[in-house]
Amino acid sequence: MKPESIPKSLADQTALTKLNTVVLKVNPAAPAAQLRQQLAVAAEALRAGLLVAFPTETVYGLGGHALLPDTVKRIYSAKGRPSDNPLIVHVSKIDEIDPLISQWPRLALPLAQKFMPGPLTLILPKSSLVPRAVSGGMDTVAVRIPSNPVANALLRQAGVPVAAPSANLSGRPSPTLAQHVYADLAGRISYLVDGGPCTYGVESTVLDLASGPYPRILRPGAVTFEMLKDFLLSARLMPESETVWGPLLANEEGLNRVLPDGEHPRAPGMKYRHYAPLAPVIILEALQAAAVGAAMPKLSALLSLLDCAPGADTPPGTNGAAGPALYTGLPKTLCALLTQAEALTWPKQLHTTNGELWNCQVSGFTNDCNGQAAAHDLFAAFRRFDQAGAAAIVAQIQPDSSIGRAYMNRLGKAASFRVSPGGIWRKDKQLGWVQLKAGDRLPGAAGNDGGLL
Ligand code: TXA
Ligand code: MG
Repeated sequence: MKPESIPKSLADQTALTKLNTVVLKVNPAAPAAQLRQQLAVAAEALRAGLLVAFPTETVYGLGGHALLPDTVKRIYSAKGRPSDNPLIVHVSKIDEIDPLISQWPRLALPLAQKFMPGPLTLILPKSSLVPRAVSGGMDTVAVRIPSNPVANALLRQAGVPVAAPSANLSGRPSPTLAQHVYADLAGRISYLVDGGPCTYGVESTVLDLASGPYPRILRPGAVTFEMLKDFLLSARLMPESETVWGPLLANEEGLNRVLPDGEHPRAPGMKYRHYAPLAPVIILEALQAAAVGAAMPKLSALLSLLDCAPGADTPPGTNGAAGPALYTGLPKTLCALLTQAEALTWPKQLHTTNGELWNCQVSGFTNDCNGQAAAHDLFAAFRRFDQAGAAAIVAQIQPDSSIGRAYMNRLGKAASFRVSPGGIWRKDKQLGWVQLKAGDRLPGAAGNDGGLL
């Protein structure tokens, strides 16, 4: 664990601008001894301060020795992430959290014993062992124990705490397959452990236990509000009275909001835009078939306003990097992420209000009521759609409960537009969601006719 014990020659390798990223394919179902053997090189690399991406049950992580400030700095630069957005420290078992924190708040140990290993991150008061580089200068630390067998075995074998943000380039959708990591980070990390697809497909629930008597969800995930409430009530750790449950959910509204520059975030990370594919994302705010049908004219009107012709600005709210497909004279592609039932009846092509013909490419997810299938495919679908040259992406809502909350949270952050049977909204950096009125154009998009709504 001591920084002095790191072989300097190995740690220095990552100073090179372009690394040769070695992919280590492992079988998550292999017996423990075999897994240990397959992970030996990656564990040694972590101990030596190199960057190693690995699968977890949520998304792939970009790992580095959490107690070595130089390694932590390299995590930020490999990801292109602002260094005031703190990192989660990963360990293999509860005992290993002890040295990282100054105390266990009242609810922390029972919650850890119930939900760890698993997709839950706890924000706790940090000890002096955790470098400021990890915690973004704050006096708290985020800790998590992954349940994915590859991640857990790797952490056990490395024997050091591992800081790991999601293994995507900053602003891109989180990676749920090793191929996603490779596409973003090849040449920027030393090893990529390929352990197959991630189970949940959305990042862990982040629960703040360090700022007040009641816990607050800073980021919804697969350990849901309902699961936390059930447990805390049945273990008699929190009273039933309504007022104490508000704070648990309080930050969701905040997390969905894009903070204007200059406004200080309640939780770090809130001020950054996340998860965005290259094409603009439109939320289809309709659950049942009748509502979807009623929202279609609004979708057609919005597509008319998205101007992707040569010379036009990148449509507002897109990631900006490459922009959606350039004008080719061919029909543009609308990629749609829908429940299975809607996917079956969605048109192959649609005419926008200004008479353009768009091709539609559809991915369906099973409507499993708690949103798990939708959450599992969201980030992967964003990446598939970008590869398919989507000019726009539309994604259907899920009920805002259970893991559906995590889906809606990520979708809300990625989206630039919303359509419902009742209207069209665009996301404004200062004002939040702004409804478009008849005749409105989209700021920054040149050449559209207006007056189409
Ligand atoms: O599932 C996950 O959590 C994945 C896997 C790899 O474990 N990791 C992940 O890390 O999603 P990242 O860095 O992409 O997201 C961590 C979130 C950020 O929003 C960050 O602001 C927040 O956790 N966070 C980290 N430390 C914090 C702290 N001390 N206080 C408040 N929020 C914190
Ligand atoms: Mg992330």
